[in-house]
Amino acid sequence: MKLSVSGRVTATAVVAAVSLLAGGSVAGAAPVQESVAAAAAPDIPVANVKAHLTQLQSIATANGGNRAHGRAGYKASIDYVKAKLDAAGYTTTIQQFTSSSRTGYNLVADWPGGDSNKVVMAGSHLDSVTSGAGINDNGSGSAAVLETALAVARADYHPTKHLRFAWWGAEELGLVGSRYYVNNLSSTNRAKISGYLNFDMIGSPNPGYFVYDDDPTIEKTFKDYYAGLGIPTEIETEGDGRSDHAPFKSAGVPVGGLFSGADYRKTAAQVTKWGGTAGQAFDRCYHSSCDTTANINDTALDRNSDAVAYAVWNLSA
Ligand code: TRP
Ligand code: CA
Ligand code: ZN
Repeated sequence: MKLSVSGRVTATAVVAAVSLLAGGSVAGAAPVQESVAAAAAPDIPVANVKAHLTQLQSIATANGGNRAHGRAGYKASIDYVKAKLDAAGYTTTIQQFTSSSRTGYNLVADWPGGDSNKVVMAGSHLDSVTSGAGINDNGSGSAAVLETALAVARADYHPTKHLRFAWWGAEELGLVGSRYYVNNLSSTNRAKISGYLNFDMIGSPNPGYFVYDDDPTIEKTFKDYYAGLGIPTEIETEGDGRSDHAPFKSAGVPVGGLFSGADYRKTAAQVTKWGGTAGQAFDRCYHSSCDTTANINDTALDRNSDAVAYAVWNLSA
């Protein structure tokens, strides 16, 4: 039996399959270990992720065309995400800070349960630049993390570790929100975070499949997911430290993440691997007014959203 990484094989089915293999002619075979039966990660419905992007686009359109730090569109984005999480049973916290004389907000959502000394975190920045709606940058990561959090609630998933999701403010001003969060953690609480997963730009219209080259366990988890799909990945090199994982990494927290490319151009060799257009940027609308819902590759968004769930499930079991 082949276990698809995005399949819906239940823990019970896995136990049954393993029991069959371990049983048979081996008399008195040892009981199957509980650890082999970790629940399979769900297939995240890309339509749900896209519905969040449509809402973020509407929020930008209704608020001067952006969702930037200190603007009404940012606060409306926070309110949208928070309402979904509250309705799903999360414990949400808004953390307020000031940057460039404007109020900023981080949103942190804890899923009740799990070992509070072992926290798995997934996060993304929710702010856009002032020039556009920021749908790939970074509605894409924000929506995928939101839909993964909602999938945890739908599955009533209760892993060994504690799950925490975060949406950062003022990333575009220099990782301000995530740095504020990390700086305000006690060293005790910092040490409880066993990993931080970052998702910034994961639906680029001419996509690459880049994995951060940081913590080996997190990196392997993402590479295993892509190997299961038969899709080659590359190490992320478009500016290490250019997103919200950097403050966590500086504080000694193991980090990892995914990225589908910004303003670097796709090479011919990369087109051979992934398709798309050679000599063109991964995201020609990076930090521009054309970063709208039209600026998304649905296949990349779907695969990367499923990868978020795969990593959250497997790293917390
Ligand atoms: N964080 C950048 C932004 O929001 C985008 C970016 C550039 C990026 N290089 C990266 C994100 C490498 C993750 C990894 O504008
Ligand atoms: Ca999916
Ligand atoms: Zn950006």
